[in-house]
Amino acid sequence: MAMPSFRLLPWWKTTTVYQVYPRSFKDSTGDGIGDIPGIISKLDYLQDLGVGTIWFSPFFSSPQRDYGYDVSDYRSIAPEYGSMSDCEKLIQEIHNRCMYVVFDMVLNHTSNQHPWFLQSRSNRDNPRRNWYIWRDGQKPEGKKPPNNWKSIVGGSGWHYDEQTDQWYWAQFLPFQPDLNYRNPEVKEEMFDTIRFWLDKGVDGFRLDIINTIFEDENLRNNPFTLKLLPSEEFDKSYFQNKMYTINHPDNFTFVKELRCVMDEYSDPERFLVGEVAASLETLKKYCGEGRNGLKTEGLHLTFLFQSLNTNLDADTFRNLLSRYEQYFTEPHIPTWVFSNHDQTRRITKLGNDVNKAKLNATLQLTARGVPFIYYGEEIGMLNHRFSLKTAKDPIALKYSRLPGFLVNLLTRSGSILLNRDECRTPMQWNSSLNAGFCSKESEPWLAVEPRYETINVESEESDPDSLLQCYKSLLRLRRQIPALNSGSMRLIDLSTHKKSLLSFERRYDRQAVQIWLNFSNRRVQIDEVQEKAELIFSTLRESTPLSSSGIQLEAFQGIVLETHHE
Ligand code: NOJ
Repeated sequence: MAMPSFRLLPWWKTTTVYQVYPRSFKDSTGDGIGDIPGIISKLDYLQDLGVGTIWFSPFFSSPQRDYGYDVSDYRSIAPEYGSMSDCEKLIQEIHNRCMYVVFDMVLNHTSNQHPWFLQSRSNRDNPRRNWYIWRDGQKPEGKKPPNNWKSIVGGSGWHYDEQTDQWYWAQFLPFQPDLNYRNPEVKEEMFDTIRFWLDKGVDGFRLDIINTIFEDENLRNNPFTLKLLPSEEFDKSYFQNKMYTINHPDNFTFVKELRCVMDEYSDPERFLVGEVAASLETLKKYCGEGRNGLKTEGLHLTFLFQSLNTNLDADTFRNLLSRYEQYFTEPHIPTWVFSNHDQTRRITKLGNDVNKAKLNATLQLTARGVPFIYYGEEIGMLNHRFSLKTAKDPIALKYSRLPGFLVNLLTRSGSILLNRDECRTPMQWNSSLNAGFCSKESEPWLAVEPRYETINVESEESDPDSLLQCYKSLLRLRRQIPALNSGSMRLIDLSTHKKSLLSFERRYDRQAVQIWLNFSNRRVQIDEVQEKAELIFSTLRESTPLSSSGIQLEAFQGIVLETHHE
């Protein structure tokens, strides 16, 4: 293999990120709730899996009404997850294994139990009053919300507070009031919080709903639109075009300021990934332009949620790949995300089909971009159907009175998840009662998905054909082959089988790798002879796709070939 003479990309562009939902990963105390010592006990597993970075959904102090996305102290750890010294140990242990650590920062809002909000709502003259967004209601009596703005979860985002006879604004649920970033004190405090964690060695942050930081200062009403349900772009929903509440121009300046805070730190470089649901054009604006073609000046990465609800077909992915390449060429880079703690698990959308999940993983881990793997995705954990009525998730509780037929209609395609408990069930470590997540005597905070007896780490470790082994092989290749982690990407023009096949080449210096993916349920023969090609990965271990007459791919098979270039 030729030695690369190109400049290697920064670590955060070549890494693979694994998302841990702390409550569901590993319980070490017997209370049925995952915790930090539990996570530490599983770091060897993650290192062996081959991911480079671990992102933790929040474990800061919180009343846990939205399981950590309602923070009541950004600089302490919720006792059910451990202590500050456990957290420092976690960071250290991750670094000891040459991996990176990403925390989840909820900048947009706090819990309504945060002392800042308690002070803010106590009276209009409190020095913290202006830390949140308070407005008078509409005249004559002020008993109607200040304007028509809806929250991103539906319903008015304004909530009346009797004590001070004003309304506060919340983009998400009523117990998550928005901070007021037009107040410089708030910005300073939150930037210092970021520094607090960077000083402790955190390597990056995932930024919760960062596209909702600012709203229109003049409170102009959002215009009407015919669209009811939110899409991945989220800017129009519940009959409202959210132009005054989402993606406000001041957000783009804000993320640049935040980037400057991150740039105060180097060795290693730190990074930001924004949770933004928007068009590719808007997403790119959050990253800003590249200075001298080298560095962007806003967020390092944004999630590209366009992939979440894609059909598994060649045309869809060809289109997506070329659009990503069009918008996110160097110094930008796409991200690849198919599942997370708010979404139906990808394999469930693929009909619980392991071969399809392997094909999907091959695309995710070989295309140009930073992949994000959600815990359990690597073993094919499935969504667990729960009723809305018994849900723990506050979104599900909000909608628990919807009639059953409507719930079925909304959720049938899997693209809307009303009860996020379904994708947050305990990690399946082995086939014992409670799947090794907590002791057999404990009751896990959410029921384990019933197919844990076969879908679990231990049994997949010993099965060479398992999804877990497929992930491990792909992750190994990604780490070892510069063309895969740092190379350019080019779609290969196909003269035949366009409907079934997708093929692209990754190239780095004189090294080239080709990826061939068959999205059809039939065998496909390509009469293209790959003379010096070497098969370095296949989703089907026993097959022999290369021959003197060309490439033959079985249904839903994906392969990686190393080709040599002079
Ligand atoms: C987006 C997070 O992903 C979700 O889990 C959370 O409930 C909301 N933001 C509110 O913080």
